[in-house]
Amino acid sequence: MNKKIGIVIASMVFAVVILTLFLLRQNPEPVIMPLTESWEKAVPYQEIPEGLFSLSAESCGACHQQHYEEWKTSTHAHAWTDMQYQAELKKESSPYMCINCHIPLENQQEYIVDGLIDGDVYQPSRRKNERWDMKLQQEGITCVACHLRGDAIVGTIGSDKAPHRTVKDPEFLSESLCISCHNAVATITPQVTCNFETGDEWKQGGYASEKNCISCHMEEVQRPIFPGYDDRTSHYHSFPGSGISKVAGETTGMLNGLEFYPTEMKRRYALGESVQYSFSVKNEHAGHRIPTGDPERFILISFTLVNQKGELVKKNVERIGEKWEWHPVAKKLGDNNLDPKEERAYKGGFGKLKKGKYALTIEVTKHRMDEKTANYNKLTNAYLLFISIYEKKYSFEVSD
Ligand code: HEC
Ligand code: HEC
Ligand code: HEC
Ligand code: HEC
Ligand code: HEC
Repeated sequence: MNKKIGIVIASMVFAVVILTLFLLRQNPEPVIMPLTESWEKAVPYQEIPEGLFSLSAESCGACHQQHYEEWKTSTHAHAWTDMQYQAELKKESSPYMCINCHIPLENQQEYIVDGLIDGDVYQPSRRKNERWDMKLQQEGITCVACHLRGDAIVGTIGSDKAPHRTVKDPEFLSESLCISCHNAVATITPQVTCNFETGDEWKQGGYASEKNCISCHMEEVQRPIFPGYDDRTSHYHSFPGSGISKVAGETTGMLNGLEFYPTEMKRRYALGESVQYSFSVKNEHAGHRIPTGDPERFILISFTLVNQKGELVKKNVERIGEKWEWHPVAKKLGDNNLDPKEERAYKGGFGKLKKGKYALTIEVTKHRMDEKTANYNKLTNAYLLFISIYEKKYSFEVSD
């Protein structure tokens, strides 16, 4: 071999080696960190159980009609299509794991996440899910999200009359299933935090030995669960909660947690006498704080006084809820949510009023979020922001 060519080849090989070493130094092999928390991972892929042809809620509904009709009205059924959820998901600041409590099964997820590149939540190591069921994704927290594990339908009795493979696992289908999603406290980035503490509130609230998520939110009923079969122990599946519907024009189940205790007001006040009111609110029926869950929720109690022409004289407003600052770092500024069985009295007044007839309205409204947040998320009027849960009117006169 010509000596010159030998030297050229040798130096080219050398250059390639150096370049490779340089590139390797620039791009060291990324380290894939494993996922640890339950909500960081999807529930593993599930096969259609023996005896069934589909996993869709509608297909379960062919036999379990009432369960299906009830579930359809629930917030669970809208956990994916929810307008606010979709708006938040599109933000760059929303990490990949936002989907794991809203579409929990791997079957529902477009990508499979195996870990985090260098432990960074914004760099999931993901690959396309070849078995992705796009239709099942739309169903959010669908029947099989709670009822399908190990390729079998999980129940609490283990009926031998079912046409599908069934396993009995009351431990799994207990309040711990609810808590696996309804309790998460985590700081993902300084601005993105998870703060659902309904499970902890329940454990600390005094109800734990009496009632749980299921006994309050899935009331027991005796009924056939398949047309023509005998009655058996069953549970309503509409998961009533705040009662603030996610879909325009549709209603969703509501539980009433609060009791209100207004004081009587006089029909007549003397001129110069101070007009005072008192109003108590008690968390009588919820096994956790009110509001619970999403930190953006709040309750307003307004005391509105108008004169006989209907003109506003004065309005006093009280707020129950958490207060947060999201920038530069997410921080809880305050929290006056009502603990289980806590009662709070609101006293106020309008001072000395002019002569005339007046009407006082006490109204309680329950809010999903304030208007600023709704505008920020570009939510349209189709998104219900609040409902009215109590109203009382008084009329009185101020005279000599
Ligand atoms: C072809 C009809 C049919 C379909 C489809 C069907 N089921 Fe069933 N299922 C039954 C019957 C029948 C029973 C037993 C009824 C009884 O014991 O009274 C049953 C029982 C159950 C039970 C109770 C198990 C226990 O512990 O006793 C659960 C939970 C259940 N089905 C969930 C589902 C889900 C979720 C789907 C959809 C993925 C589904 N079923 C689809 C007919 C059906
Ligand atoms: C896979 C996660 C998951 C599981 C399991 C789960 N939930 Fe939920 N739940 C959610 C999500 C997410 C929402 C809210 C969806 C939305 O607003 O878009 C929700 C909403 C609710 C609401 C309605 C809240 C409202 O605004 O009115 C109630 C009530 C509720 N869940 C109760 C339960 C109970 C009881 C159980 C156990 C039987 C349970 N959940 C199990 C994730 C879950
Ligand atoms: C958020 C979780 C969740 C979802 C979603 C869900 N279920 Fe259930 N389901 C339960 C729990 C928990 C029980 C058992 C309650 C108990 O026995 O204490 C149950 C019980 C049942 C039973 C047994 C009879 C009864 O009513 O107790 C049937 C049948 C059933 N579910 C069908 C369905 C169908 C069909 C869907 C979808 C349309 C569905 N479930 C959606 C949690 C869920
Ligand atoms: C003693 C009965 C009781 C128990 C136990 C209970 N809840 Fe509730 N829950 C209620 C009532 C009542 C409301 C309605 C509160 C209101 O008036 O806004 C409610 C509301 C909710 C809401 C809607 C949140 C809001 O602020 O509007 C969610 C979500 C919820 N519950 C989940 C759960 C979960 C998860 C558990 C178990 C850890 C649970 N609940 C245990 C009675 C109960
Ligand atoms: C640990 C489970 C879990 C994870 C992870 C999770 N969510 Fe949720 N999400 C819930 C539950 C439970 C609710 C219902 C809370 C309630 O009603 O009290 C909910 C409700 C919501 C709602 C509706 C709020 C309302 O007031 O109705 C939005 C929007 C939402 N989640 C967005 C997100 C985003 C964005 C992420 C990622 C940063 C995320 N979720 C991650 C469990 C989860």
